[in-house]
Amino acid sequence: MKLSEALNIDITRIDKEMLRIVKHDRDVPRQSIIQKSVADLVASGGKRIRPMLVIVGSRFGQEASKAQVLQLAAAAELIHVASLIHDDIIDESDMRRGQQALHKATDVNKAVHVANYLMARVVELLTKYGEDGQQFIQELSGITTSKLCLGEYQQLNNQYNYDIPMETYLDKSNNKTAILMAACLQIGAQAAKADPKVVELLYAFGENLGMAFQIKDDVLDFTQSSAQLGKPAGTDLMNGQVTLPVLYALQDPELAPRIRSIHADTAPEETQDVIKAIRESGVMEKVIERSDVYMDKARDIITQLNTYEAHEDLAHIWRYFSARDH
Ligand code: FPP
Ligand code: MG
Repeated sequence: MKLSEALNIDITRIDKEMLRIVKHDRDVPRQSIIQKSVADLVASGGKRIRPMLVIVGSRFGQEASKAQVLQLAAAAELIHVASLIHDDIIDESDMRRGQQALHKATDVNKAVHVANYLMARVVELLTKYGEDGQQFIQELSGITTSKLCLGEYQQLNNQYNYDIPMETYLDKSNNKTAILMAACLQIGAQAAKADPKVVELLYAFGENLGMAFQIKDDVLDFTQSSAQLGKPAGTDLMNGQVTLPVLYALQDPELAPRIRSIHADTAPEETQDVIKAIRESGVMEKVIERSDVYMDKARDIITQLNTYEAHEDLAHIWRYFSARDH
């Protein structure tokens, strides 16, 4: 069963809201590249995990306005989509979700502007909740997106740095992935006026899940084919990203010098050989164990929330993340 079905969430409503947010802006002409790009991006699919987290978060409160929760869910996905447009440019990735990345379908300049517009539009929308006294909602557009950019900067700043401390890798993953997921649950719960202690637990659940998600993502980059991923495989190391599989593989005295020899102008075939050696080194199990530490913490939080009916939804999400292989 699909996660959206298990959670009883109609994904088409999220998609419609994302489109509505852009179409509602009268300053954006109908035939513009922004309208067309957003329509294409929405149609290209995606798991819509972040909006689902917002909606599930709202189920831990009592006073949720359905329209507001839907708008927050769509806003969260638009932030994510905008960040992926930038990410594909930075990573020089041509494919996303099995289709041409936006900067390939248009060009880099246009893609940058579409992503910037989406971010600005989200800020515009969320700022109005501040005027209504719901300042906490601004956190989604402010703190969370700053952290996304910071995480991406930490990643860029450590390209080909084979001595990156584990804490920096974890902090980068937290900024780049975990905080947005945590904030989605938090914002949904706060919008529904959930108990602050519950909001805190939901944030921690999202953060742990997000860390596990990013570590798994780093593993899948080594183990999955491009067809399975819907984007090029093995690009992390090709781009000089020293992820957890690489950090663990660096502890192998035979592999370490081969990894350390990879730099920006290494022939792609040579890097591919090292990627294969890392994949076959048995290191992935160790990496998954690290991810499981976060999954275990997330499961403990579900238990702490078991007096709420919606804890079943967290369990569905947990199982989905646990079984994820794409
Ligand atoms: C995917 O990483 C990228 C992110 C989770 C966030 C990227 C953030 C930015 C580029 C900062 C700009 C942000 C905004 C809001 C404008 P990945 O390359 O590890 O994953 P992938 O394999 O799916 O590409
Ligand atoms: Mg990328």
